[in-house]
Amino acid sequence: MDINTETRRSVAFIGSECYPFVKTGGLGDVMYALPKALADLNCDVKVILPRYHCIPWKYQEKMVYRGSFNMDLCADGTSYYVGIMEYVWDGVVYDFIDNDDFFTNGNPYTNLVDDIPKYCYFSKAALAALNYMNWIPDVIHCHDWQASLVPVLLRTQFADTPIKDAKTIMTIHNLRFQGVYNIPTIRYWTNLPEDVFNIDVFKTGYEDANILKAGLAYADIITTVSDTYAGEIQTPFYGEHLDAHMRHHAGKLRGIVNGIDVVQWDPKTDPKLAANYDISEVLPQKKLNKKALQEELGLEVDDGKFIIGLISRLTDQKGLDLVDAVLPGLIDGNTQIVVLGTGDAKYEDAFRYYENEYKGTVCSCIMYDEGRAHRIYAGADALLVPSLFEPCGLTQLIAMRYGTVPIVRETGGLYDTVEPFNQFTLQGNGFTFDRYEADLLYDAINRAKTVFFTDRWHWDEMVQRDMAKDVSWEASARQYRELYMELKPQ
Ligand code: ADP
Ligand code: GLC
Repeated sequence: MDINTETRRSVAFIGSECYPFVKTGGLGDVMYALPKALADLNCDVKVILPRYHCIPWKYQEKMVYRGSFNMDLCADGTSYYVGIMEYVWDGVVYDFIDNDDFFTNGNPYTNLVDDIPKYCYFSKAALAALNYMNWIPDVIHCHDWQASLVPVLLRTQFADTPIKDAKTIMTIHNLRFQGVYNIPTIRYWTNLPEDVFNIDVFKTGYEDANILKAGLAYADIITTVSDTYAGEIQTPFYGEHLDAHMRHHAGKLRGIVNGIDVVQWDPKTDPKLAANYDISEVLPQKKLNKKALQEELGLEVDDGKFIIGLISRLTDQKGLDLVDAVLPGLIDGNTQIVVLGTGDAKYEDAFRYYENEYKGTVCSCIMYDEGRAHRIYAGADALLVPSLFEPCGLTQLIAMRYGTVPIVRETGGLYDTVEPFNQFTLQGNGFTFDRYEADLLYDAINRAKTVFFTDRWHWDEMVQRDMAKDVSWEASARQYRELYMELKPQ
């Protein structure tokens, strides 16, 4: 049936970050791009976010006051102000929950001592705001632990309020982060009854409560961001101590792979690039971007060099121990390495050390910089994503869109989105390795280099195949829409 004549679905997205207001990683990209894609599929979408102080003023000043009220929150009856500030953009309505007690610090996260109360407040305020605005969606789509109290509150404290008719979806973007804290603290900040602090809902270990676990138990449907990760999280290695819980709820668990916003990420129109290009001009134009990148970063300017990019949060999830192990071995006079990221001090220091050791060959940008990320995607030849685990991964998708060949470990969404180059059939989009071992990463990079240096014709064909690949949200947004239809048949 034509999507425009099908019943319209309304959905409220609740999550802790959203590009361009606030973003620390892929969750921010998804919270921006998926609602837009759903709006194009005839869905009515509201995105509910905290109004953090770190949101740039150019957005804050455009927000319009929608109302305010006081809300009871804590077990001792303490109540807090809830303001609603609205911003409408590109078919999507953004409602920001305003409260200075909770959202002044952090970028946007600080530490669990502050973050637990912050997101207990936010989850309840989001539901209360929907009731206040009298906007009762068909589906409430919650993202990661920061919004994971929503399904629980909906079926308990909000069970007799108008919002009760909504169904819930919990999407796991990263099972590692669960919002675990001691039971008394979480009981205090949620004022939930003792009986939900049992082993099937909140309780974890002897004395802790796990907010994500509880949300997963109460949600009508659980999704995660790739099919492979949906399977992996049911195993002890990837399950982050929740594998049994995931297996228990496997009947309502689905994997839907992420896409990227192909307007935001379009080498043909990207204003941040030195030279724009589409698939027909990629080979000459990419050389211009490569030159500009080498100049920008103080690398030796030579388009014959093989530039490997790495754009990542610097945490152990991202396979940086493997990179650390192989990096010196990659320095051969023909290879340059560009790192852009922030995170754990041990990785930041390691990359600073390599930049110093191999001046003009390795450049480590220990910073968060959107513009530079765009220029690395366009100017590098290959992008490294050797993750220990990767629920979906967006950097390999962006790389392909920019004609940059991904080198990835076969895990999670990396496995689902990068087809390994086959030297016999001459098909594939990138280079892959399976076990988490430095030698295998080294071997994958060397296979890439061999094709780049000795078989450029086939390398260039792969670059064009990558650009031709559909990495948009189109297909996956339709799958979410079908889920909304299933949850609320009419
Ligand atoms: P994760 O969400 O686990 O961090 P993803 O691959 O899903 O990983 O998404 C990462 C997103 O963050 C991409 O849009 C990537 O370009 C961006 N990114 C990561 N680090 C930086 C950085 N230092 N500067 C700019 N953008 C970054
Ligand atoms: C998480 C995951 C990443 C995924 C992103 C968006 O941050 O680490 O793999 O792409 O969420 O879903």
